[in-house]
Amino acid sequence: MPPWTASKIKTAKGKQKIVCLTAYDCTTARMIDEAAIALVLVGDTLAMTMLGYDTTLPVTMEQMLHHTAAVARGVKNALVVADMPFMSYQASTEQAIANAGRFLKDAGAGAVKVEGGAFRAPTVRALVQNGIPVLGHIGLTPQSIRELGGYTVQGRRPEQAEQLLADAQALEKAGAFAIVLECLPPALSQEITAIVSIPTIGIGAGPGCDGQILVTHDLLGLYTGVTPKFVKRYAELGTEMRRAFAEYKRDVEQGAFPGDAHGY
Ligand code: KIV
Repeated sequence: MPPWTASKIKTAKGKQKIVCLTAYDCTTARMIDEAAIALVLVGDTLAMTMLGYDTTLPVTMEQMLHHTAAVARGVKNALVVADMPFMSYQASTEQAIANAGRFLKDAGAGAVKVEGGAFRAPTVRALVQNGIPVLGHIGLTPQSIRELGGYTVQGRRPEQAEQLLADAQALEKAGAFAIVLECLPPALSQEITAIVSIPTIGIGAGPGCDGQILVTHDLLGLYTGVTPKFVKRYAELGTEMRRAFAEYKRDVEQGAFPGDAHGY
C-alpha cells in the first residue's frame, strides 16, 4: 500500500475510518506504523507524557523537532504530523511559516498541526500556500488552557456550537487537510463532520467523526496523571513495567540475576 499522505487522508473521508495515534519516540512509532495506523501525531502532549510538565505550554520548538525526527525515523507508511508548540506560530504568519518549515525540512514530518478556528485560518492558508499541509484542531485546544480555565467539554451552548461549525468551515476553506475535534458533544461532532468535505478526527468527540486519535500513553496505561473519561485503555503497561522493575531489583539483590544463561 502506498504511504499515507495529507491528500490521501483527505480522500479517505467516507471510505474508511482514519485511525491515528500519538508517538514521541522511534521505537513506539515503528510499532504504531507496523499496526498500519494512518497518522502518527508527535503531539505537544510530549510536554506531559515524556517531559513531566503539567500542561502542553512549556514544550519548545527544539524539543518538538528532536522528537519528531525520532518518530520520522521509525515510520515507513503513516503520515507523521508535528504539533506546532505554543507560541511557535501565534506571533505572525512569518514565524509560523519559518517554524512549520523546519518540521518538514529538518525533522522529516509530512504535515503540521495548529490549534484554533476561524481566527487561525489566515495562518493555515499561508502554510498551505507555501507547501505545508496542515491539520486543524478545534474544540478543547489545550494551548489555550489558561484562557479556557480547564479541560472541559466545548460547544455545549448554542452560540459556541455555531462558532465551532463556522471554525471548521473556515479551516476547510483555508486548505486544512483534516481537523481534530477535541472534547465536543457527539451530536455536534457529527454535524461538523457532515458539513465539511475534509475528514474530522475525534478525541473525546464521539463515534460520528471520520477518524479517531488517542494519546498513546493513555491507551497503554503509561501516563500517571489524570486520564480523561474518553480514554479507553487497551493495556496496563505501567503496571507491567512496575512489576518488571521490582522483579529485576529482587533478582539482583538475591543473586538470581545474572544466571548461567546470561553470561559468556
Ligand atoms: O498533543 C496531542 O497529543 C494532541 C492530541 C490530543 C490530539 O493534540
